[in-house]
Amino acid sequence: MSTPAEDESADLRELEGEVKTELTEADSRPIQDASGMPTDEWLMDPYAQRYEVSLRTLLGAIEAVEGGSSTGTPQTETTQAETPQADSPKADSSNPDAAAPEPDGGRAAADDDCLALVRAADWPVGAARYERMFPGLPALDPDPGQLMDAGVSGGICDAAALLDKAADGAEAAGWPFFGQLIAHDITADRSPISDSLDPEALRNARAPRLDLEILYSDGPVGSAYLYDRDDPAKFLLSPDGRDVPRNTQGVALIGEPRDDVHLIALTLHVTLLRAHNRIVDLLREAGVPEADVFDRARVTLTWHYQWVLLHDFLPRLVGQPLVNEVLAEGGRWFTPLPRHAYIPLEFSHAAFRYGHSQMRHTYQLVADGPAVPLFPDLMSFGPQPPGRHLDLAQVFDLPGQSPAQRAKRIDGRLPASLIALPEPVTGAVDVPAHRSLATRDLLRGHSTALPSGEAIARRIGARPLTSRELDRSWPNGTPLWFYVLKEAEHRADGDRLGPVGGRIVAETLIGLLRADPTSYLSLQPDWRPTLPAAGPGYSLADLLLLGTRPA
Ligand code: HEM
Repeated sequence: MSTPAEDESADLRELEGEVKTELTEADSRPIQDASGMPTDEWLMDPYAQRYEVSLRTLLGAIEAVEGGSSTGTPQTETTQAETPQADSPKADSSNPDAAAPEPDGGRAAADDDCLALVRAADWPVGAARYERMFPGLPALDPDPGQLMDAGVSGGICDAAALLDKAADGAEAAGWPFFGQLIAHDITADRSPISDSLDPEALRNARAPRLDLEILYSDGPVGSAYLYDRDDPAKFLLSPDGRDVPRNTQGVALIGEPRDDVHLIALTLHVTLLRAHNRIVDLLREAGVPEADVFDRARVTLTWHYQWVLLHDFLPRLVGQPLVNEVLAEGGRWFTPLPRHAYIPLEFSHAAFRYGHSQMRHTYQLVADGPAVPLFPDLMSFGPQPPGRHLDLAQVFDLPGQSPAQRAKRIDGRLPASLIALPEPVTGAVDVPAHRSLATRDLLRGHSTALPSGEAIARRIGARPLTSRELDRSWPNGTPLWFYVLKEAEHRADGDRLGPVGGRIVAETLIGLLRADPTSYLSLQPDWRPTLPAAGPGYSLADLLLLGTRPA
């Protein structure tokens, strides 16, 4: 005769079996094509998805009661920082997502009311710290003098003599600027530039979450100055709708001051604000209760941004096969536990600075207009001269429009605009070389004790670049940032990242989405975009078009 405990356990197992069967069926049901839905339905969660989410919640609860692994729920409060890191693939075996990954993202425990869960987004997610993706590799320790020489005018990172046309790559010029906004969304190391920093003391002023904190900041209550007092579900814009509001000294009232660095980043930022406002209108037209409108608009925009990042931006930058691999198999080197994410220094202080080498020196703002240098001409940090604006079709390939300007090929060199940054961008500097973004990138890698590019290549099983490909010899190995750029040049035609850069970037961005309990990848991995799209797949162009339409 069985004991009550054994009976209970058998019941639980039976229930678990039933839920799993039901989930398999739900998984195999075709997802409704949201773009074909009537307009009053396309912003709603399809019932099937909510049902699946509640099934997963139930499954998580059963597994928790059984003492088994609840999908996506941390088993222990031990963070990756506290876990001994064996610097080997899958070292974080306590992470269920890493051990048994799902084809399109990890399955985090979720409530059937996703909005309620996302409303709880103020959960702390990891300390504001940076960590390492390859903690076992030694620091490169290059000669700081050599780094200075490489970055300044006339050094190997200076593309000054190169004409924009000759440096044109294949991607539209706007893509790296979208990358710049992503960078601003997740990482802000505000420490002064120096070669003697304690990397452990660095603090990230941004939450390591792809959640558009750059727009929303603390929301209509905490950051009321960003929102329209008469309609707080919407962002406040300048009277002509082309700028953010500014204070009496011209300083932007904006969630992320770095988005005001130049006209192109600012225009992208404003376009996203306008897309949010447009979504608010559409939700109201669809009859969503007023109390839900802001939160729902925020989730809608954020999830579309995450989708575009994963399905449009990342495949262009690192290649679809690597994206597929990391989605299907999980990260090999970066698998933070849910709500315990952090930014790896290899990402923020080297690999994701790839975009500095994808900047052109000049940009044409409107059809038939002149090409103007990015700096100082397009610097923002204040209102633009009257009549100056950027037509996004000049930097992104938009449906029905002529092809946009192309981004510069990534090749280890930076345009003149970035080799001599204006003082408002760097702040006052004691050492003139600190005006060069290339020098700053190289020094940051040194001060945070990053390993060489070759060491990481060997660790991940990639073929290291040859000294001929690297253009110059670095005595003990190549600084990671420079290595990533040269790898892009020689292994990916300068249009995307190579094995080392691609791996660091793909694992970080996908790992952050997985560790964020409010990302679509965690809450509803089968979610599909619901906003109107011009083509079969939802793209950044669709999001931008939503934000450029007249209100
Ligand atoms: C005109 C365009 C840009 C300018 C003027 C600019 C400027 C800067 C400056 C001044 C820094 C701080 C340097 C330091 O002291 O360490 C920085 C950091 C950074 N930039 Fe850029 N950047 C630009 C474009 C981009 C692009 C296109 C990307 C990526 C696609 C990017 C990614 C980053 C990242 C990841 C950091 C480190 C941020 C942090 O952790 O604080 N930037 N950039």
